[in-house]
Amino acid sequence: MRVVNSPLALQKLLEEEQGSIGFVPTMGALHLGHRTLISAAKNANDIVVVSIFVNPTQFLEGEDLDAYPRKEEADKKVCELSGVDYLFYPTVASMYGTDEVSLNAPNIRGYIMEGTSRPGHFSGVLTVVNKLFNIVNPTRAYFGKKDAQQVMLIEAMVTNLFMNVEIVAMDTVREKDGLAMSSRNAYMNEQERTEALYIVKSLRVATQMVMKGALDIAKIKDEMLHVLKPLEVVYVTIVNRSFEPIDKVEIGNTIILIEAISGTTRLLDNIWI
Ligand code: PAF
Repeated sequence: MRVVNSPLALQKLLEEEQGSIGFVPTMGALHLGHRTLISAAKNANDIVVVSIFVNPTQFLEGEDLDAYPRKEEADKKVCELSGVDYLFYPTVASMYGTDEVSLNAPNIRGYIMEGTSRPGHFSGVLTVVNKLFNIVNPTRAYFGKKDAQQVMLIEAMVTNLFMNVEIVAMDTVREKDGLAMSSRNAYMNEQERTEALYIVKSLRVATQMVMKGALDIAKIKDEMLHVLKPLEVVYVTIVNRSFEPIDKVEIGNTIILIEAISGTTRLLDNIWI
């Protein structure tokens, strides 16, 4: 595995490679969810590139940019053992100048849910993913469905900017008790970790309602909010797979999304119905 810090050096190295490139962009603190993305990339491509970059432009003022877990040595080991060919580890200064062109998330779908609770977040995500795609020029790029709105906006960017990359969205990987894996789970103490399971419970309640034929969005949301009471709920949103509002669950075309805070940890989860 080659560890490369310079964007231009990586671009040059990858231009010289033959075959398809599978790319897994991450912010590090790699867990089983990331390893699943890496192994999917490995199965479908000749070369696998992983980036680890805690992107400052997607953090808002006062958010956890400085506290975000950084596990350089452990992450390198994970990548090495997973058969990654290139690990891209750039510095902030090599990725950003002081005065830059940036991308804005689209007005409607980028400014609901997490776009409202974290204004500017998705513009930062799209800007850095665009840069990373330009450096790596991947054939396929792999993202987790836990960040469903992020995946949808990256797909929109790829379509809108006529980018030649296939976006592969992979199912959320969960802990044994159902909690969605996330690098931020490490912030929680035992009690907060236990309370975070109300998120999983609320998604189960919603699924059971749908299985019994209760498809009314308002009723499902009420039940979910009842289960989620011990947590600070940022939103519970039920939309179709184009992220448009709906009144009734459409089986095969619905996503139920939650953002909630346990202690001080912001947690996302969703279920695709
Ligand atoms: O999902 C993430 O880890 C980040 O948002 C991403 C896609 C690597 C961009 O910084």
